Formats: sequence, structure tokens, C-alpha cells
Amino acid sequence: MKIKTNSGGQECPPHMCSSVILSHMSHKTFYLETFGCQMNVHDSEKVIGTLVHEGYRQVETVDEADLILYNTCSIRDKAEQKVFHRLADYKKLQAKGKKFGVLGCVAQQEGEKIFERAPHVSLVCGSASYRNLPQMLVQLEGAQVEGGRLRNASLDAPADLFADLSALDSIDSHPSKIAKGGAASLVKTRDSGLAARDSLVRITGLDDRETDECFETEFTARTNPHRGYITIIEGCDKFCAYCVVPFTRGKERSRTSESVLAEACQMADLGYTEIQLLGQNVNSYKDPATDRAGKSRAGKTFAELLAAIGEIRGIQRVRFTTSHPRDFGRDIVDAIDAVPTLCNHVHLPVQSGSTRMLDAMQRLYTRDQYLERISWIKAAKRDISITSDVIVGFPGETEADFAETLDLLDEVGYDSVFSFKYSPRPNTPSLQLEDAIPEEEKARRLEALMARQREIQIIRNKNYIGTIHEVMVEGYNEPRSQWIGRTAQNKTLNFTAAAVQAMAAPQPGSYVSVIVTSSFPNSLVGELVV
Ligand code: 5AD
Ligand code: SF4
Repeated sequence: MKIKTNSGGQECPPHMCSSVILSHMSHKTFYLETFGCQMNVHDSEKVIGTLVHEGYRQVETVDEADLILYNTCSIRDKAEQKVFHRLADYKKLQAKGKKFGVLGCVAQQEGEKIFERAPHVSLVCGSASYRNLPQMLVQLEGAQVEGGRLRNASLDAPADLFADLSALDSIDSHPSKIAKGGAASLVKTRDSGLAARDSLVRITGLDDRETDECFETEFTARTNPHRGYITIIEGCDKFCAYCVVPFTRGKERSRTSESVLAEACQMADLGYTEIQLLGQNVNSYKDPATDRAGKSRAGKTFAELLAAIGEIRGIQRVRFTTSHPRDFGRDIVDAIDAVPTLCNHVHLPVQSGSTRMLDAMQRLYTRDQYLERISWIKAAKRDISITSDVIVGFPGETEADFAETLDLLDEVGYDSVFSFKYSPRPNTPSLQLEDAIPEEEKARRLEALMARQREIQIIRNKNYIGTIHEVMVEGYNEPRSQWIGRTAQNKTLNFTAAAVQAMAAPQPGSYVSVIVTSSFPNSLVGELVV
């Protein structure tokens, strides 16, 4: 069982719940491809868990599937276009009776407009509605039967032919109306002749930004038997000028520390040793703790939650992503220093090194304030690696602003940077600003930034030669005859194990010590220490 991402998939654990195993006999099949960030990858685990529990079996190709799902990303235009290309590529399969569904951020952002752009789509569902998938699947299956009947009917079929469908569940007869509170709705499309011919069902699960609905589903099919994700906070209230996330994932909602800890303990009992806490803004986490009488009480801060998870027996590594500089407190650094299982790595997106640009981006901190946080991290007792995200070509970014970003790379000395060309997104405040920097200039800045960062990484990684690190073994690279390992600092450390007999070869998921013998800009190479 796999989560197919656009960057490749990972095997599912052998110890999936019994319903997963039973589902191998199931005749209902689905194919799911995931685009975008770790939140989406984890959401897909929830979708797979839910579908498998509903009796579906996951397959690896579109051809084998009855239901084809895309879990989409809309952070940049390119990511959004990918899904429409995929839908266009496979449209012909509708004739074979296959159904298509669009999930995730593009679904939430575009809503029912997706039915116009890709009329063969039957299901559009945002992330806050995944817990309603079981009802939506029932609607979809019921509609398949009806659909088969209707497909033979003339295009001008009288409206009452659609009445059978409406009996299935709540009907929202106005295509532009969005079902609130995550309720699934089946939308009739009799006012769109062409669309009706192509696909007779339109099922939506969409929430507005103010939804309080949480994102937990009853079942999760985790894709890695050693490392697991836990969402601690969903949504975002920051409204950075360029960012679509507050519109696609809604307002911030934190899970109780109790439920996070319960899930972490359960994972530890199942043999997971690494936990990665997820959220758009993990450090704006606010524990909605209540006492037995239901009254709110002081809950755990993010740093306290981190420490508590790090102290669970069996948990060897805890990671967290993403941190917003504004909410990044010294207590997080103190927790990393105090609890050895907390990984010594902080991903702290800066976006720009120019205070003027940070202000335009509505990032809520200045360059100096950002650098102050970096100084806390660098003052830690442990050697904490630092990574970041940068956007080039935001409206109004001058050569001088960009030079400040390059200079910041040197000043911080990042271990790695994810860099992006600015992409105007729907609904965002910066859409009002003219996107005047030409594509070629954005590309030039991106190249320059990546080249500078590469130089920094070459120097930084060389410093690791001769040092010993514990790595979690992730697998074996056959062509290179190297084991793949990951350090607590989140660096890839590939290694050989010359002194080890095949019998005692490192096992994926185990932790071993490796001495670094050489380095590349994006990885380290070493030898197992026995
Ligand atoms: N254009 C370019 N990059 C963006 N990001 C978010 N929105 C945009 C956009 N409109 C980047 C930011 C963020 C990362 C996940 O994606 O750097 O931190
Ligand atoms: Fe987007 Fe800013 Fe929220 Fe991050 S903090 S998800 S960049 S709005």
C-alpha cells in the first residue's frame, strides 16, 4: 500500500489495522496521488485509512482503480496546474466508468468551479471534511448506479430523473452554494447540460474559513513503520501577503495536548520511534485543555508539549515543522537542550532578508528580530541545524532587497534553504500588488540564491568530516551499495558498512553510529562505527 506523491511513494507498514488487510479482498479500488507538503502527505494517510476502512483497496495505477483521487496543493500556481493536467490526461478513463475526486487545497480553493473546469470530476473535498468521506463515498457509490441508468437517458432528461439522487443525502440545489460545517452535499447539475452528460454526480465537502471542525479522522494508514506524523494544529491566522493557506486550510485550530500525547503513546506502543509534529504554525499551538467539568484550564505550551512527547518511553526522535519566527520562543531552544530526544533541527522560514520586504509580506517581524531568534538557536548547548524558506521576486523586491537576502544567507549559515519564485495566488492580499518582476528576473534571482546557498552548504558540510553521528537507517541504495541514514539534524548521511557481515547488516528503522568521511552540498557520506 502506498502514498504516491509527485516525488515518489513509500511502503506502508506491515502492521496495518485488520481492516486494511481485509481490504485486500475488496473489489472497490482507489488510486491516490498526493501533491505538496507533509501536511498533505499526512492527510493522505488519513484519507487512505478512511477509504480502506470503508472497504476500498488501494491500487498503484490509475488503470486498476475505480476511484481516482488527487490530494492537491495550491501554494504556487505550478502546483495547482499539475492537478488540472493530471485530470485532463485521464479524462478519457471516465468512459470506462471511473470516478474522479479532487481533495485538499485546490478543492477547498476552487470549490465547485472544479466541476466546470473538469466536468468528469464527481467529488470535491477540502481537508476539514475528510471525516465525512464515508458518507460521501456512499453517495458516490449510490450515484454510480443511478448514473449508469441516467447515462443512457437523453441529455434533456426531465428534472425528476435526478430525484433519485436527491434522496441519498442532503441536497444543495444551488451549485454555487457551499456546504457549511463540513456537511457533504450532493449537487444536481441539471442546469449544465454538458456537465450532466459527462458526470451526473457532484459531491462536495467544503468548509468555510471559520470552521471549528477538527481534522482528525477515525483511521490513519501510516506509510512508514518507524516514523509517523501527528497534526497538532491545523490552519493559519497569520495571513502573510502571498499565502493561500489561511484560505484553504481555515483558521487555526489546535488539538488538545491530551489527545496528541495519547496518539504519540499509541504510536510508541506500535513500535514507532520517531514522531514529527505537524502544523502550518506549530509554535502558535494553543492547548484547548479543559478540566473534567469542561472548564478551560491552562494547558501545555508548545515547548512543554514537545518535551512531554520526547519523554515518552520508546520515542527516540521528535521533529516539528513549521515554525513561524514571530511565535518562536526561547523556551523551544531550552526544551531542545533539555530533552535529548528532541531533534536538534529548527526549520525557521525567513522569506526575505529585507525588513522592507518582510513588512510588505506582512510577516510580522524584522530582519533583526529574525536574527535575534537565530542567535538564541546558535547559543544552545546542542549544535542545532537551521533551515529556511525564501521567496524571491515578491512585488517591489529591488536588487538591494535581494542583496540583503543573499547577505542573510551568509550571516545565518543555513544548513539548507527551500527557495521559490513568487507566485500570485487567489484571495491573497498581494494579489492587489502588481507582479511586475519579470519571470526571467525571478529565475535569475532564484539561481543566484541557490548558488550562494550551495557554497554555504559545501563549507558547512565539510566541517562534519571526522565527526560521529547517530543515524536512523532509512533503506539501502542498491546501485551505490550504500545505506541511507538520517541524522537528528535532518541531514542525509549515506554510509557503507564494510566491517559488518551481511547477517548483521543495519535494518531500516534502526539507529546506528556513523563517522563522516566525505561530504557533498546536500549530503554526507560515512562509514558505520562498530
Ligand atoms: N509564492 C511563492 N512561494 C510561496 N510560498 C508560500 N506561498 C507562496 C507564493 N505565493 C512558500 C513560502 C512558504 C513555503 C511553504 O512556500 O516560502 O514558507
Ligand atoms: Fe502561509 Fe504565512 Fe501562514 Fe505560513 S504563516 S501558512 S506562509 S500565511
